[in-house]
Amino acid sequence: MIKTVSTKPYQDQKPGTSGLRKKVPVFAQEHYAENFIQSIFDSLEGFEGKTLVIGGDGRYYNREVIQKALKMAAANGFGKVMVGKGGILSTPAASHVIRKYDAFGGIVLSASHNPGGPTEDFGIKYNIGNGGPAPEKITDAIYARTKVIDTYKILEEPDVDLDTIGMYALGDMIVDVIDPVADYADLMESLFDFGAIRSLIGSGFRVVIDSMSAVTGPYAVEILEKRLGAPAGSVRNSEPLPDFGHHHPDPNLVHARELYDDVMSADGPDFGAASDGDGDRNMVVGKGMFVTPSDSLAIIAANATLAPGYADGIAGIARSMPTSAAADRVAQKLGIGMYETPTGWKFFGNLLDAGKATVCGEESFGTGSNHVREKDGLWAVLFWLNIIAAKKKSVKEIVEAHWAEYGRNYYSRHDYEEVDTEAANELVAALREKLSSLPGQSFGSLKVEAADDFAYNDPIDGSVSKNQGIRVLFEGGSRVVFRLSGTGTSGATLRLYVERYEPDASRHNIETQTALADLITVADEIAEIKKRTGRNAPTVIT
Ligand code: G6P
Ligand code: ZN
Repeated sequence: MIKTVSTKPYQDQKPGTSGLRKKVPVFAQEHYAENFIQSIFDSLEGFEGKTLVIGGDGRYYNREVIQKALKMAAANGFGKVMVGKGGILSTPAASHVIRKYDAFGGIVLSASHNPGGPTEDFGIKYNIGNGGPAPEKITDAIYARTKVIDTYKILEEPDVDLDTIGMYALGDMIVDVIDPVADYADLMESLFDFGAIRSLIGSGFRVVIDSMSAVTGPYAVEILEKRLGAPAGSVRNSEPLPDFGHHHPDPNLVHARELYDDVMSADGPDFGAASDGDGDRNMVVGKGMFVTPSDSLAIIAANATLAPGYADGIAGIARSMPTSAAADRVAQKLGIGMYETPTGWKFFGNLLDAGKATVCGEESFGTGSNHVREKDGLWAVLFWLNIIAAKKKSVKEIVEAHWAEYGRNYYSRHDYEEVDTEAANELVAALREKLSSLPGQSFGSLKVEAADDFAYNDPIDGSVSKNQGIRVLFEGGSRVVFRLSGTGTSGATLRLYVERYEPDASRHNIETQTALADLITVADEIAEIKKRTGRNAPTVIT
């Protein structure tokens, strides 16, 4: 029954920030997915008879790859696979299932916020037993294996019925088709004050969640409408579709514009939130106030004890380097640890496992905590609702009070998508050349204090990650950061992150791009973005 299939290696299976992501036609090449999955198994040890979790965001090609992965897991000797009904598991729910059932690891099929469909994106990511993305040591081993792999193992059996909850035999392995929502919803109920949120909603506070036709639909309906009593229809685009209904399931001011406009309108809801393809990102909007992800992390951290799951306080905060330093001020005030990591949720895993950090966040609309080992979109939304319910204040009031107390970190990210790869690499190389000459230089009123290429020394396992983004720091706490995205699937994406600290509360209501205008000009001057990319303006501003 176990078949060993000869294969030829592909040279382009290097996992990026978050697993291997390619267009569906690339994944559909002969043995392409199989090679990568076998390379994952070949890079692991000691999983004989153990449990693997498999689930995905329901995008196009999800079911096909799940069937392959199931048969390959059986052929490679796993004892059991837990798979979400319909092949569905949001990324945070997969992380929770891995942890709750003490699984060996998990395979998450997703390309996150990238569009889905026959010519769009697909992805495979391996998570380890702590529920988090595999560390670089493992992803490097997987990549090395993909370059030389010559056989893979698969069971020759008919497809498993993924649509009926229950246990099935697949060779010597058990396939356990589970309810993808229940465990996760219970976890959320254990962390947050559902009673208080239910009263808030019952009092007429209108909450809307846009699931963007992606994986959070069933989770949000169960939690918001069923358990918290919001009226039916409060969750929009709640049915996960293989092509996300042609939405770009990325919760930001561009792709979730409709929701934003609705919340901002006079008779619109009081609170709006959106999540991405696989449910780990979040966007939070209150009437009159969009919350930047960096501020969201800081405000959640500052108010963490209002949620029952964090009532005893938090041990520390971690943020990715390009994320604003708003959270640093909270950590300082609370007298707790603050950790600055490279972009990518996997870098938080060690800090969370070691109990150094309790909440983590990234500028890329990701926030989460030690409850799982992934960022978690609905968790962030529920945290905000919990804070609103406890403080009896609006999002706008909460954010403005936070700024008044800690100062405001004006923040924006400018993305230049699908830039010519060579031009992007040259831009970064030229910046690196310049680094040592920048300190001391003045650009208008901005004087460079320091400039470097960010490197991270993991305080737990001692691993070093170099070249994680170029930082130019100015006197007074302003900075610009340049990085190439590790999640794009065509060409290069240049990200420019701009931040300015403003302690003076009378200057907290300037429009963000205006507040950052001088830094944006200087960034272009230093990196020659327009000249080198041939672009006059960013593709997306968040
Ligand atoms: C994914 C990862 C995040 C990361 C984001 C942006 O969502 O899970 O950890 O911050 O992508 O990564 P990029 O390399 O595209 O800036
Ligand atoms: Zn995602």
